[in-house]
Amino acid sequence: MKHLIDLDDFSIQELDQIVHKAVEIEAHPEAYYGKLSGKILGTLFYEPSTRTQMSFQTAMLKLGGQIIGFDNPQTSSVSKGENLKDTVKVISNYADVIAIRHPSEGAAKAASLVAECPIINAGDGGHLHPTQTLTDLVTLMHEKGHLDHLTIGLCGDLKFGRTVHSLIKAMIHYPGNKFILISTKELTIPDYMKKIILNSNCEYEEISTLEEALPKLDVLYMTRIQRERFESKEEYLKQKDVYRLDTQKMRLAPEDLCILHPLPRVDEIEIAVDDDPRAVYFKQANHGVYARMSLILHILEQNTQTSIKGEIYPEKICSNSRCITQSETYLKRYFYRDKDGVMCCSYCDAHE
Ligand code: CP
Repeated sequence: MKHLIDLDDFSIQELDQIVHKAVEIEAHPEAYYGKLSGKILGTLFYEPSTRTQMSFQTAMLKLGGQIIGFDNPQTSSVSKGENLKDTVKVISNYADVIAIRHPSEGAAKAASLVAECPIINAGDGGHLHPTQTLTDLVTLMHEKGHLDHLTIGLCGDLKFGRTVHSLIKAMIHYPGNKFILISTKELTIPDYMKKIILNSNCEYEEISTLEEALPKLDVLYMTRIQRERFESKEEYLKQKDVYRLDTQKMRLAPEDLCILHPLPRVDEIEIAVDDDPRAVYFKQANHGVYARMSLILHILEQNTQTSIKGEIYPEKICSNSRCITQSETYLKRYFYRDKDGVMCCSYCDAHE
């Protein structure tokens, strides 16, 4: 069984194969209709979603499969106190593949340890969102024709923005990419992500304004400030309007800039920018269906095993208050050491 928890679960060759297949499916969708007839996708969404959930469902329906699941845990037995393990154990016998979204970091990894079918991480708290990244890569292939030698500006909530973390983890594998990190100091990217860039052959630069960054970019990846991840409303309000892309700032941007946004947008991009041909975020959401069709086909063809990194340390407790191990206390405490020997949680990757 092969899971997709983090894009590291795939080799760069596999990633390229999935991206190219998505482009091919989008060009000739009729050739793939009915390919998964008789198969079932389970969608376990413990957190709200529009695009991820519905694009997974659309992908499976286009492939001829069927779907089961919930989009509100309060209408499932989770509301009666059922733990993640039991829910996943049961549904993974009903479904051939499960896409799971959960507010706790590392939840998809925890689900994969007990599942009887492949698990796809559809977003785990502020940690990772690998299928959004597949969507982003497919969009860049359509728009730029390549995934290397790009200067990519990432703007907004780089601390909790799981789409940003997953995108960086994928783009470091392609030569010549450079990241321009545009955020306030409160929402800067976590140190472990900076280390990941530094340990790759890519560079990064931190810039505090969109005006300074825009002229340098091939790609601008805007993100929403994630209200639901803040400790208090006051802290959110201090951040929410710091970055706003508008038509005036767009005058500073190169003609071939490609503006991505995982959506939903709140007010970080002025609606008038939607009419600019450089704004491709709605096309991006559409590519997500084909990215997920390609991914589901790939996952169901695999018979290799995804394993958990590290070893069990029964007495150790993860320092991340948002880690799945804090609520699902029966989980075995796995930790691994990073390249610098620092101990990290195998579920949420938090460093000690
Ligand atoms: N991009 C994304 O994850 O959107 P949803 O939250 O609507 O699924």
